[in-house]
Amino acid sequence: MYKLLKQEGRAKRGEFHTVHGIIQTPVFMNVGTAAAIKGAVSTQDLQQIKTQVQLSNTYHLHVRPGDELIKEMGGLHKFMVWDKPILTDSGGFQVFSLAGLRKIKEEGVYFNSHIDGKKIFMGPEESMQIQSHLASTIAMAFDECPSSVAERSYVEASVARTARWLKRCKAELGRLNQMEDTINKHQMLFGINQGAIFDDIRIEHAKQISQLDLDGYAIGGLAVGESHEEMYHILDVTVPHLPLEKPTYLMGVGTPANILEGVERGVDFFDCVYPSRNGRHGHLYTNQGKINLFNQKYERDPKPIEEGCQCPACRHYSRAYIRHLLKAKEMLGMRLCVLHNLYFYNTMMEEIRDALDQGRFHAYKEEKLYGMGQRNM
Ligand code: GUN
Ligand code: ZN
Repeated sequence: MYKLLKQEGRAKRGEFHTVHGIIQTPVFMNVGTAAAIKGAVSTQDLQQIKTQVQLSNTYHLHVRPGDELIKEMGGLHKFMVWDKPILTDSGGFQVFSLAGLRKIKEEGVYFNSHIDGKKIFMGPEESMQIQSHLASTIAMAFDECPSSVAERSYVEASVARTARWLKRCKAELGRLNQMEDTINKHQMLFGINQGAIFDDIRIEHAKQISQLDLDGYAIGGLAVGESHEEMYHILDVTVPHLPLEKPTYLMGVGTPANILEGVERGVDFFDCVYPSRNGRHGHLYTNQGKINLFNQKYERDPKPIEEGCQCPACRHYSRAYIRHLLKAKEMLGMRLCVLHNLYFYNTMMEEIRDALDQGRFHAYKEEKLYGMGQRNM
């Protein structure tokens, strides 16, 4: 259940109540594709860096270790020792970005596993069954994410099929949630809006899925090659057609600036691999912009990554030491950088929520962008 606490323009401050606790929004979900955040980050670490929600992937967990195994182990929460909310992406997007040779049919997608090449079929029912085995808090609908440069006729047909798939997802999850041996009988379902960069297709689809009374609504198919301006424009025209009394989720986005612009346009949920991926490469977010710790100028720098930062890296270690760890390929180096970056993102979300509570989000956004803009991010 979503409670809209406050609005500033289109920006929303809300609370999302789930069986695994309350999510304060706007929120950034920390991406743990294969039931782990890359960079040797533990559940105990996540408690320290303000993580509210973890995101995992249906496709990855289905091919390894297998959703049946995770169900046998008591579900994903027990398996990865995380008792707060988990959102699972449906597999649709990962099939399109990872799997070799695929065929899209009305019933679903035929493809080969990226691990061993094995033939796999996944359709809306299969995706819901896998997510039900995983027992995540929020399941995502099975969708197709058409390329941002796909032709209009292709996008029209694809979105119509994604809309039919959504109805099948809803029916199947309703059935699964009533089964005796289902681990999470309160599993929620978010629908996904598609339509590439065609305003009218996006709007028509948004209106259509809004009538299904789902638990939340995502905007997919963005940050896949279109410009930032095109992405912001799609949000401008689409979000007003999604229900205000439900959370909105912008999938796979993005940079701190993208998130600030998304919040301003009414988005509640975000997720992105940037903080962990950049951290693993020594690229660190600070309020003055991104820094590259491999840069020679940090060789003898006794300062923390960011002065005043309360993350586990900055509370104890210097730039010089972490730079040395990265150069020596010591795992601790990556780990500290990932922790700092996730802490930076989660802290920014906390600042966004505080600013919305106090009715000064717009001013906060301008200030934050100005500070970070000194170095391009
Ligand atoms: N992650 C980023 N974009 C998308 C999308 O369009 N669909 C799904 N299912 N996941 C995504
Ligand atoms: Zn830090």
